[in-house]
Amino acid sequence: MNGLAETQSRAEALLRAAGVLCVLTVDSVQQALSCARALADGGLTAIELTLRTPVAIDAIAAIRHDLPQLAIGAGTVLEPAQVAAVEAAGGQFLVSPGVSPALLDALAASPLPSVPGAATPSELMALHARGFHVAKWFPAAMLGGVAMLKAIQGPLPQMKLCANGGIDAASAADYLALPNVLCVGGSWMVPKDWLAAGAWDKVSAAAKDAAGIAMRVRNG
Ligand code: 3PG
Repeated sequence: MNGLAETQSRAEALLRAAGVLCVLTVDSVQQALSCARALADGGLTAIELTLRTPVAIDAIAAIRHDLPQLAIGAGTVLEPAQVAAVEAAGGQFLVSPGVSPALLDALAASPLPSVPGAATPSELMALHARGFHVAKWFPAAMLGGVAMLKAIQGPLPQMKLCANGGIDAASAADYLALPNVLCVGGSWMVPKDWLAAGAWDKVSAAAKDAAGIAMRVRNG
């Protein structure tokens, strides 16, 4: 197996095992640690921490160090330089909302599993031609949600997807039941006001609910 085939197979296994991937954006390392602890307490096993704030790389390093039971990845990876920064911080996987040619090269060369973003059949075909069979399908609800994913499954069953964007506790199960959906991603269990207030009991409860949805769908 070449490098990319191996990291893609790890990406598939990681996302399938996660079921629900919490997309988290933080303002401080302390907030990241407290929130990650609450998510883990609720039973979630993987976090996509977005590189949308200046503390993100430090937060990834801190979660990797303090909460080794979690799979901690970086989201909103837009530039090749960010791939190296995430690797150096101990991040365990890479997620992007879409790709540029330079970013795709960096993701393909990384020793970390990566989940490049795509929205259309042509974008998914381009990823597959480049050696990727795991992708973030974003923004899922706005693209047509479950109906669109069912339509994509016919011609492109080889593409396995993390559906992200506009998904919540009410819609997660319908996505997870689809054969081309490895996991659902979303921020519904970490709304901004809960993060700001440090409402970690609410985060834990929402995480528990989300983990339960994945378990129920997967166990039939
Ligand atoms: C994102 O990258 O913003 C995620 O897909 C989260 O989307 P959501 O906030 O709609 O859940």
